Amino acid sequence: MKFFVDTADISDIRELAATGLLDGVTTNPSLIKKSGRDFMEVIAEICDVVDGPVSAETVATDHATMLKEGRKLAKIAKNIAVKVPLTVDGLKTCKVLTEAGTMVNVTLCFSATQALLAAKAGATFISPFVGRHDDISQDGMAVIEDIRLIYDNYDFATEILVASVRHPVHVLESARIGADVVTVPPEVIRKLFKHPLTDRGLEAFLKDWDETGQSIL
Ligand code: G3P
Repeated sequence: MKFFVDTADISDIRELAATGLLDGVTTNPSLIKKSGRDFMEVIAEICDVVDGPVSAETVATDHATMLKEGRKLAKIAKNIAVKVPLTVDGLKTCKVLTEAGTMVNVTLCFSATQALLAAKAGATFISPFVGRHDDISQDGMAVIEDIRLIYDNYDFATEILVASVRHPVHVLESARIGADVVTVPPEVIRKLFKHPLTDRGLEAFLKDWDETGQSIL
């Protein structure tokens, strides 16, 4: 499973890229606003830091303008994935861009039937939002299970990119289902490394080692 970080904060991206475990980045207009940075500049900087796909979202709602925006975003770097919303105009734009060789991440997906249409439109990635389902007492992961089944039934190449991840269990369940990618906020990625028994065990090992009076170097 690939790990993308869901942020436009360049310092978080640099820190997590240094682990060697980061496979890409997703942004959206809200994350760009939160970064306080110029959109085109911060996306270009992110593309320099991370070799994997970097999602940059269009903001037009009509196909013609969305296509112009997507073509402009795709020119920023070779690893740009143009993000379009799961609407009729978004999928029309997706089809044109992917046929031209541009990666497209179809976002704001909330149903398996929407994901089916995105795959037919040639989406590189589909971004079903799980957390926003959970926020209204729906089972977001059930949608991921349905998409996985449908995509496998028809051998679709579109990669399931689980988004709106709120906690490590979303990552665990995504891996159990066989999602291709999870995009995870920086603070949730940091939680994935942590376990109290690891901390306690390491402390005990180092205490015992210190008492041997030895050193390796
Ligand atoms: O990439 C989509 C993701 O940022 C949405 O997350 O927490 O706003 O539902 P959230």
